Amino acid sequence: MLTVAVLISGAGSNLRALLEAANEPDYPARIVVVGADREADGLAHAEAFGIPWFFVPYAEYPDREAWGEALRDQLAVWQPDLIVLSGLMRLLPASVLEPWAPRIINTHPAYLPEFPGAHGVRDAIAAGTTQTGASVIVVDAGVDTGPILAQERIAVLPGDDEESLHERIKPVERRLLIDVVRRIATGDLDLSSP
Ligand code: GAR
Repeated sequence: MLTVAVLISGAGSNLRALLEAANEPDYPARIVVVGADREADGLAHAEAFGIPWFFVPYAEYPDREAWGEALRDQLAVWQPDLIVLSGLMRLLPASVLEPWAPRIINTHPAYLPEFPGAHGVRDAIAAGTTQTGASVIVVDAGVDTGPILAQERIAVLPGDDEESLHERIKPVERRLLIDVVRRIATGDLDLSSP
């Protein structure tokens, strides 16, 4: 059974979908802990599913490295096989990347390498593109630059705003994420040579 830590910053709707999937008896992965960089609303989903959770408040550390070391120490307690970034709006420092890479994956609300970064949906709208997408990638030291594990196109409709487009992207992200974690767990997908 693959053990998974999920890291969030916000509402955690994709986390909730993964918690629901992992609750199914035939799903080959289990979420062992949920962490956040702030007192995120989405931590309530972990609580509801009886999963341990923690937060390491970014604002309370002098820099990203110090925060990363505290996050690494929390994760080390649980020794997850895989770390899933599900709306974590922070770059992970080397202190977290080194022990786990390439076993860290991220969901992103755009068709990478298009529109990387913190505002993938807003940037797609601003660019006036007619299609964007959803991606699941391996995390490396760059901003959404790691190998792509799964992605799907989603149309930008006339009249879409950031919220309406994001709400259409999220269900696709959830499906891709649940499938990627399943494929990693079954050995169908090898993160060292994706
Ligand atoms: C998701 O769309 C995720 O891809 C995005 O934040 C959202 C989190 O939603 N992440 C990024 O943009 C990372 N660059 P949720 O908290 O409701 O799951």
